[in-house]
Amino acid sequence: DSRLKSREEYKNINFLITAGGTKEYIDPVRFISNKSSGKMGLAFCDSVKKRGGSFRLICPSSVEAHYPAVFADTAGDMLARVNDFISECDILIMAAAVADYKPKKYFSSKIKKNNGHMCVDLEKNPDILQEISGYKRKNQVFVGFAAESDNLQENALKKLKDKKLDMIVANDISRKDIGFDSLYNEVTVFFADGKVEHIGKKRKSEIAEDILNFAVNIFKNKKG
Ligand code: CTP
Ligand code: CA
Repeated sequence: DSRLKSREEYKNINFLITAGGTKEYIDPVRFISNKSSGKMGLAFCDSVKKRGGSFRLICPSSVEAHYPAVFADTAGDMLARVNDFISECDILIMAAAVADYKPKKYFSSKIKKNNGHMCVDLEKNPDILQEISGYKRKNQVFVGFAAESDNLQENALKKLKDKKLDMIVANDISRKDIGFDSLYNEVTVFFADGKVEHIGKKRKSEIAEDILNFAVNIFKNKKG
């Protein structure tokens, strides 16, 4: 029946899913992070499971994952963990919001307040997708995300190309009714072959299913 079919659809496909915002520590109790809750990444886990695929989840320990996960708090940790597991995956879903910068210096003791101002020098983090793009296998599918407040199409297309992605899921973060903290989203997906698909406002769980279907179709076509 159709329920059985849905449980088998992604059988024998291995997904690697990253979720949540990385934390870049200043001292033992303070960090720089971002608004990503990890909900979108977890929605991918749910739908992969529902369709009988297997996945490995990599996320910061603060993400309330109802799945076993490999923890990676910082961008540096996440790069290392993605490197550990990338070769065994067919489809990478890079939903994590990786911090672009980290504090230049980590203070191993808690910083005390003083009477003057306080400066935190930042340096660039590695770009995980960029780093792994060099050894992407022909039959792997890499899916990236782009949260944009302006020039959505132009920025998303540049990331698609620079990071050698098969597809990029772009959402407009200037919209208050969707995205961060919301169960809903609305996205535009740009594909490496030039195709564009808009997914109108709906639950993140439903958006995850649409995106996975696109990715699995690309994977099946690559495999031939
Ligand atoms: N990404 C990554 N490593 C980083 C930063 C981002 O792998 N250090 C990934 C994200 O997980 C996402 C994609 O790259 O899938 C795009 O992230 P985004 O922040 O939109 O793009 P950036 O390249 O960081 O550019 P900018 O933030 O300046 O728009
Ligand atoms: Ca970024």
